[in-house]
Amino acid sequence: MSNLVLSQKEFTLFKHYIYDHLGINLGAQKIYLVQARLAKRVKQLGLVSFKEYYDRLSNDTSGEEFAYLSSLISTNVTSFFREAKQWDFLKTYSAALAEHPAKKLRIWSAACSSGEEPYTLAMFLDTHLAKSGAWDIKILATDVSPRVLKAAQTGTYTQKACAGIDPVLLQRYFTYESQTQSFRIDERLKSMITFREYNLVTGNYALFKEGMFDIIFCRNVMIYFDKPTQEQLVKKFHTLLTKEGYLFIGSSEALTDMKQGFKSKGASIYQKV
Ligand SMILES: C[S@@+](CC[C@H](N)C(=O)[O-])C[C@H]1O[C@@H](n2cnc3c(N)ncnc32)[C@H](O)[C@@H]1O
Repeated sequence: MSNLVLSQKEFTLFKHYIYDHLGINLGAQKIYLVQARLAKRVKQLGLVSFKEYYDRLSNDTSGEEFAYLSSLISTNVTSFFREAKQWDFLKTYSAALAEHPAKKLRIWSAACSSGEEPYTLAMFLDTHLAKSGAWDIKILATDVSPRVLKAAQTGTYTQKACAGIDPVLLQRYFTYESQTQSFRIDERLKSMITFREYNLVTGNYALFKEGMFDIIFCRNVMIYFDKPTQEQLVKKFHTLLTKEGYLFIGSSEALTDMKQGFKSKGASIYQKV
């Protein structure tokens, strides 16, 4: 089993499947990565070839095998307070919000991975929004991978994962659990977030209302999608954002050629116009 080899033909089958179902565009050089990641699953299921696994996957109507595959294929790297410049921008934004009469904020952390991004948002707003307790803040945090969502929902992180959190915030918002040597996020912050499984590429956007989000974070996932998929997604985000709402993307991503309806605010932040 250790010398299970993914043929070019099998790779093409998975490549198309992954593109159609996840939007992830795998280049030819990814054949070894796909082979390495899927081999474990093929072995675990007691199958003898990648083709056999492909048949199992494509005939599985429960969606369970797709969920498993998405966990294997996606890169889930994330961290607390990722993209420092964006948090600097949000400091200014939070100060300006003091005059906001509605005292209501709706935020979507699309592709939230193991939760560091939405928990950072919750900590950040609780700290920087004047009289944050008087605000109605709801953060929707979604990802295609049930595995990372499960981790996110525990709200528990290793010491290493918490290294990027200011010690004052760590002390304020986390409880250290010596038994597991991990930090558990405050329940009040956790209650600001709703975690849901959602596929940005094949998901049903009719579930959302036009103009419902003040802020959308979609960071470090569009980079895996091809241009047409990115364009469609950005259009959908535009529709879902409120007037003058903000879209945050990853610093290695850009809305070049698809900025229509947005103006750049720097630091990979775009405002709906
Ligand atoms: C690199 S992480 C980014 C996490 C976080 N946004 C950040 O910037 O730190 C990318 C995430 O995108 C998710 N993902 C990949 N394809 C997706 C899709 N089609 N729909 C929703 N999420 C997807 C992966 O499961 C993964 O958790």
